[in-house]
Amino acid sequence: MLRSQPNRRDFIRARSRRPGGGPAAASVPLDPGPSTAWATPAGAPSETVRFGMIGIGMQGTGLLATAIRLPGVECAGACDLYDGRHVRANEIIQEVTGRSVPTTRRYQDLLDNKEIDCVVVAVPDHWHQQIIVDACNAGKDVYCEKPMTHRVAEGFEIISAADKNNRIVQIGSQRRSSIVYAKARELVGQGAIGDVVLVEGGMGRNDPCGAWVYPPPPDLSPQNLDWETWQGDAPKRPFDPIRFARWRGFQDYGEGIPGDLFVHVLTGIHYVMNVTAPPARALSVGGLFRWKDDGRDQPDEMATLYDYPSFRAVIRVTLNTDLAEVTRFLGTRGMIEIRDDRLTLSPQDGQDHEPCYYTESYPEKMHAAYVRQWHEEHDRPPGTAQAISASSFHAPPGYNDDREHLWNFFQSVRTRQPSVEDARFGNHTAIGCHMANYSYFRRTVAVWDESAREIKG
Ligand SMILES: NC(=O)c1ccc[n+]([C@@H]2O[C@H](COP(=O)([O-])OP(=O)(O)OC[C@H]3O[C@@H](n4cnc5c(N)ncnc54)[C@H](O)[C@@H]3O)[C@@H](O)[C@H]2O)c1
Repeated sequence: MLRSQPNRRDFIRARSRRPGGGPAAASVPLDPGPSTAWATPAGAPSETVRFGMIGIGMQGTGLLATAIRLPGVECAGACDLYDGRHVRANEIIQEVTGRSVPTTRRYQDLLDNKEIDCVVVAVPDHWHQQIIVDACNAGKDVYCEKPMTHRVAEGFEIISAADKNNRIVQIGSQRRSSIVYAKARELVGQGAIGDVVLVEGGMGRNDPCGAWVYPPPPDLSPQNLDWETWQGDAPKRPFDPIRFARWRGFQDYGEGIPGDLFVHVLTGIHYVMNVTAPPARALSVGGLFRWKDDGRDQPDEMATLYDYPSFRAVIRVTLNTDLAEVTRFLGTRGMIEIRDDRLTLSPQDGQDHEPCYYTESYPEKMHAAYVRQWHEEHDRPPGTAQAISASSFHAPPGYNDDREHLWNFFQSVRTRQPSVEDARFGNHTAIGCHMANYSYFRRTVAVWDESAREIKG
């Protein structure tokens, strides 16, 4: 991995490699594709893409460390509201390039900088829309972390700003660039598991860090953090280091479990199943059972049923039990299971393999006649049986879909080809997250109304 620090996904992967964490079947390595071109030297200087980094916290540090190692990509400035993260940004950049970049608390400084082609944004969710729209209006392309929005209406404002300014917008759900999910999409498209009628996915954690009980930086103060700006359009509160570090647990800034974790599962499902609209309906249950001490108002347990026109999905995430991250596509001809970077295809023929047990309730003579006839019609001639094989595919060692996803973005900036996860795609998964929360908090079925562009109860 290129990251200087393992991120939560690395941690999840490492955990799921524990004994019992995955199938041991022989597995075919997947081809990482054109990105092997990374081995070639960077292009001419004119092809260098210069980005500004906005938000250098837990995710931003990883994105920055990954992006500056990509050929032909340079960081030209970094922005954060907390000065400690200016130091961190330059520590990361110095280690790789031996130089440092200008830092600022005002992201507008990066948008005004003519040397900068695009921005990579990793700020809390309540700031996404404003920064994406401002960046598009300033003529910058944008990579912004998931979920794309904090509120439903923001998604349409982002789409409109990207369209109006002809900007590349890519949302940071890295599964959209994963070769494992691409393989699943190919197999589903080929009909390898027949008609997919249900998808199930989820994950679980059982530790304070996994439950977002992050320790705020010890020196954090109103002197080194612009707390007023950090709060954005949320209700103003006195300086609060807990809210700064654990914003995911508060509705004012994030979307809790759906925005943090469902969004990854939804991205995989929408990509594999070629979904081009929000879910039609959602119904959630959950609760805040354990991680209450920091005053959060988001649940630590949620399960949601989604209704799509051609299939159903069930997503469940718990912060109270450690579970592997698994998504299963269930079809009339078998199942595809994705467990971290490994995909297993288990075909099924959908036929009876022995006389139906219902007929044991027939009178004996009738049952015997049925069984005899069944065998006459179904038994294979001796020597013709074939084993039904399961196939397994995995990403090559060292594969990192964060890096693939960033690379795809910078390639779009260079070539002006559409991004792999544009604002429309990001909006559909974000709306799926908002629908889960709408249903949970209002205790009703959430229904997507496309003409009103609203969730209704
Ligand atoms: N794709 C993934 O796997 C993944 C993983 C983790 C986080 N994320 C996403 O990344 C984003 C950031 O999450 P995080 O955990 O890094 O948060 P964080 O709190 O660790 O870091 C966010 C940083 O943004 C800064 N910030 C806030 N508002 C700002 C503004 N207006 N201008 C400049 N800087 C500002 C904060 O000071 C902070 O340093 C979120 O949207 C989150 O959902 C994605």
